[in-house]
Amino acid sequence: MALEFKPAALEECRRIIAKYPRKRSAVLPVLYVAQREFGYVSEEAEALVAKLLDLHAEEVSGVVSFYTMFHRQPVGRYVVEVCRTLSCALMGADDIASHLRKRLGIQPGETTPDGRFTLRNVECLASCGTGPAVQINGVYHENLTIQALDRILDSLP
Ligand code: FES
Repeated sequence: MALEFKPAALEECRRIIAKYPRKRSAVLPVLYVAQREFGYVSEEAEALVAKLLDLHAEEVSGVVSFYTMFHRQPVGRYVVEVCRTLSCALMGADDIASHLRKRLGIQPGETTPDGRFTLRNVECLASCGTGPAVQINGVYHENLTIQALDRILDSLP
């Protein structure tokens, strides 16, 4: 059976699309809805979004592959994204990244066997003045130390 949005999500997409003079301009927010609904943006989800926006699936695929916030494969319950760009690197991002690899037992791009964490290295999170920065499920954590990061991970339900 082809992938479909649930009625409420489809309605949400239609409301988003209606805000733009051209349907194609809604591609990012509609992709966010797709990712939230399906957990990641599969080729089927790209095709679904393309159909809604009167785009070719390849055009949607190009957007999804350009932006790191879209997941092209299933991810864990928590997506931990470590900024490795210059400012954060100078402020200790390598130590943060190394600690995360050890603590979670996985490499960037992998998910823990229990499905709880996916680890990713990303480019600048636009928090350069308060590095090192990590984003967990879209929430920023800045000026991190290993101890602060451990407290954050320990506090996750
Ligand atoms: S360099 Fe890390 S947020 Fe910009």
